Amino acid sequence: MPTFYPSYLRKIFTNRAHELSMLAKVAEDLQDGHPRHVALFGLRRIGKTLLAQEQVVRLLDQGDVAPVYLDMEDICSAPEPFAQRYIGLTCYWVLSKGEGPVDRYLTADRLLETEASDVPMVARTAGSLIRELGRRRPDYAVLLKLAFDFPEQLAQTLDRSIMCFLDEFPELATLSNFPNIGDPLKHFRASLQQQSRVAYVISGSAITAMERLVHDHESPIFLQFRALELQPFTEEDTKGLVERIFGSVIPAAQSAVYTYTFGHPFYVTALTERLRNLAPAPNEVEVEHVEQAFLLETLSRQGQIYGYCRYLYDISLQKARGYGLLKALLQLLAEEEGLSLSELARRLRRQASATREYLRWLMEVDLIVEEEKRYYYRDPVLRFWVAYTTQGVEVDAFPRREDLESVIGDLSERFQRVSSQLGRAKESEVRELLRQLAGQTVDGELLGTDEPVHIPDFNQVERYLSSDGQIELDALAEADAERWVVEVKWRLKRVGPGELEQLMQRARQFDARAWCVSQAGFTPDAIEFAREHDILLSSAIEMKALGKMT
Ligand SMILES: Nc1ncnc2c1ncn2[C@@H]1O[C@H](COP(=O)(O)OP(=O)(O)OP(=O)(O)O)[C@@H](O)[C@H]1O
Ligand SMILES: [Mg+2]
Repeated sequence: MPTFYPSYLRKIFTNRAHELSMLAKVAEDLQDGHPRHVALFGLRRIGKTLLAQEQVVRLLDQGDVAPVYLDMEDICSAPEPFAQRYIGLTCYWVLSKGEGPVDRYLTADRLLETEASDVPMVARTAGSLIRELGRRRPDYAVLLKLAFDFPEQLAQTLDRSIMCFLDEFPELATLSNFPNIGDPLKHFRASLQQQSRVAYVISGSAITAMERLVHDHESPIFLQFRALELQPFTEEDTKGLVERIFGSVIPAAQSAVYTYTFGHPFYVTALTERLRNLAPAPNEVEVEHVEQAFLLETLSRQGQIYGYCRYLYDISLQKARGYGLLKALLQLLAEEEGLSLSELARRLRRQASATREYLRWLMEVDLIVEEEKRYYYRDPVLRFWVAYTTQGVEVDAFPRREDLESVIGDLSERFQRVSSQLGRAKESEVRELLRQLAGQTVDGELLGTDEPVHIPDFNQVERYLSSDGQIELDALAEADAERWVVEVKWRLKRVGPGELEQLMQRARQFDARAWCVSQAGFTPDAIEFAREHDILLSSAIEMKALGKMT
């Protein structure tokens, strides 16, 4: 399979250390006779397939456990081809390490012409398949059983453990449309229970469907799989990916990449590739380049992100009845998120019960989520795309900067919810950092001063809200003889002197030392002001260095 995990993708593979080590542990346990199974899920294009492929290649390199990779979407057309391919491709991976031409492995007849037929068990299974397929009406249940039992039989015969990666696993349901099959999952489970030398890693893009598969007690494979949800990248891993694709860019631009993509690796990749065309060199990338690249990617027809959002939107709505109303709902939520059922129903001029049905449908296809009875997009980039394209806004491939101004103005506002969520996470990170650094002396440079700074032995570091709700501090840190007041600004704009002045007033009120943490850094005026008034300053880079000291 020449397209299996091309080398350019392997070169940029980033992050996922935790998931890879978990999969490595599953392989190890399998070797020790304890098979366990994993269900990988997460947003579309979040990197499920890439993670599986990376692990497949690692297992091939190690040579102990034999990996098998099957894309169920490719093979689940009908029971006859399914059974032949499931068996043939398992041979291809285990006996030929997934190398060389694959065609010969796709039918039972031709499988007998390959070296796989040297294994008597394989030849026997191919024979059984051919017999069943030769009947006037093949028994589909028999075909499925032959297929699902096969990996274990091969493992036993070769005395070698097998790790089976079944990508797009929910596609298996397609086979339920054929007579005598019923729920294909039941056949799968029946085989699974007899197996001791095979571990399965199933994955799929339909989050809701995957969750139901493993968490719903009515699902045939409930409790058999441990769920592993892939999250977007952290800021640091996002930086790693940008560096692999393009190079190191200035912190403010890097932060902008993170905010607009929320660390989603496909968006990061598309945006960075676009940046590479816009900016002459990585160290010359400005925030403006990032904004421009993001708009070209999302709102011009040539953009990869545009293409993807269009596909997602169309495919999700394709099968829907009440198409117009679903679109109207998506548009409403693109304009304003976090609306409740009654608010949405009122704006749609529909009954709450009908509106709830539509919302349920949109949740079913993973477009929106419910949190505390309010509705949000799962993916802020898609939300941005819907907001603009439904108004007919598109950007051409070579827009003038002036034409983008109005959209750019809106851009940062639209991503505010995303960045305010990130901001809240950051505040608690900063508090935790202070607790851990308490009592240490750190290099003054990391706090924007020349002298080393002794961090007091804080006995309490908490967020503070005055009883009348008027004063809010991101952190108030108290030691026996000293207090610190901390302000965290996690957004794309640099902090200016006005904001530091406010922070200084607060600090005075609390008789405390002031520290301002800003993702995008500080304007020259602000730095000057801080020096005059003894305010400590750290940007994202210093925060990272401080984090390493704990
Ligand atoms: N760990 C990673 N390192 C670098 N790039 C990544 C990583 N994960 C994902 N990507 C980028 O995102 C793209 C999509 O990844 P992948 O196809 O693995 O996602 P998926 O979750 O399987 O998507 P789908 O839901 O469409 O099946 C990749 O082609 C790659 O460009
Ligand atoms: Mg995939």
